[in-house]
Amino acid sequence: MEKFIVNGGTRLEGKIQISGSKNAVLPIAVAAAILGDSTTVLNNVPNLTDVKTLSAVLEGLGATTKLKNSTLSIEPINRLEYEAPYDLVRRMRASIYVLGPLVAKLGRAKVSFPGGCAIGPRPVDLHIRGLTCLGADVDVKEGYIYAQARKLIGTEINLIGQHGPSVGATANVMMAATLAEGTTVINGAAREPHISDLANFLIAMGAEIDGVGTDTLSIHGVKQLRGTEYNVISDDIEAGTFMVASAITNGDVYIQGITNEQLPTVASKLTEMGVKLDWDDYGVRVTTPNKLKAVDVKTVPFPGFPTDMQAQIMGLLCLASGTSTITENVHTDRYIHTAELNRMGANITLDGRNAIIKGVSTLSGAPVMASDLRAGAVLVIAGLAAMGETVVSRIYHIDRGYEAIEEKLNSIGAKIQRVDDTY
Ligand code: UD1
Repeated sequence: MEKFIVNGGTRLEGKIQISGSKNAVLPIAVAAAILGDSTTVLNNVPNLTDVKTLSAVLEGLGATTKLKNSTLSIEPINRLEYEAPYDLVRRMRASIYVLGPLVAKLGRAKVSFPGGCAIGPRPVDLHIRGLTCLGADVDVKEGYIYAQARKLIGTEINLIGQHGPSVGATANVMMAATLAEGTTVINGAAREPHISDLANFLIAMGAEIDGVGTDTLSIHGVKQLRGTEYNVISDDIEAGTFMVASAITNGDVYIQGITNEQLPTVASKLTEMGVKLDWDDYGVRVTTPNKLKAVDVKTVPFPGFPTDMQAQIMGLLCLASGTSTITENVHTDRYIHTAELNRMGANITLDGRNAIIKGVSTLSGAPVMASDLRAGAVLVIAGLAAMGETVVSRIYHIDRGYEAIEEKLNSIGAKIQRVDDTY
């Protein structure tokens, strides 16, 4: 296992390029491999462990994939397998994305039931509800989800769950509905930029989808989808993470390949804190001319503040003057990073889904452990601002979703070393 040694106290300065969106490429690759009937070429694909894990899942189903530079070629084959086994699915929850497309294409699927994870329980009832509405028989037994249907038939489906819309269920049901008979209307659809990117990719494959970017998607079933060439959207969460990294080091960083529309609420919260954002057609320049102010943040589905930026903004709020609160409404248990930040000198207390952050003047380096992807990201960011050395272990979590994070940050002045964790 590897770890990062972060030497804090340097100011970030320069230009950083955003990679393709992890959360967009995962369902897009699934659609290409299972729903497509010819080769797809995806450009702007990030080189991430999650992309490799998903490729292994798709290879296990019979597709051929090849990732070279930032291009992922996917060759669907005619004789697809219908089973996604535990060994692969347990490595990545997004493997659940194969469920809907397999039922749509083959009439049956057997997919290992994904477990919970460090950010809390991750139910799939909405995925099952959506496919059942489309006419599939879905059964959960012996740790697997079994689904079958002679054909899927379009209908009206409400996908709002107890925590609001679901990104995963919207993607799964939308993919299945592209090959269903008739029209499917998804009410309460997730509107995240990666959902719109998946919809645009499906349209490029020949699908008919109205309402892209809204909470009502109408999908008119077609007989088949073809392979295509497509540029994956840039990663809003990677961009948001680097915006926070610039602000926390009092830096001057130009983040290239992102638009305000992709992360409107992150941008407005940073502005409210006193961070200066200068947007142009290609990206944003992030500087911090003022003292950082405390703010209140509530995570909600897009276009609200994303849960995937909660940990990172918490790191920044640790150094703001005054008391901030965070309310985590999406993954309500997603707070393991608070204990690690407190070990670095932060003053955070938890009360159910609320975190109360009293600003401190400095953080100090400490040995800390990444418990999930974004929790890992905030420890690196906090380490950049901390006095002394921060050692972040279990960085395989970070490699799941950030392409060469230490190389990108080092290129603008950070001092981060990747070392083998064997001693
Ligand atoms: C996706 C993202 C993840 C992000 C999350 C919320 C990917 C690969 N992952 O995860 O990074 O944190 O969106 O933006 O894109 N829920 C149910 N029943 C379900 C499904 C979800 O109750 O069947 C609940 C979840 O527990 C959670 C909320 O709905 O409280 C949102 O989850 P969802 O949007 O589905 O998250 P994922 O798609 O798993």
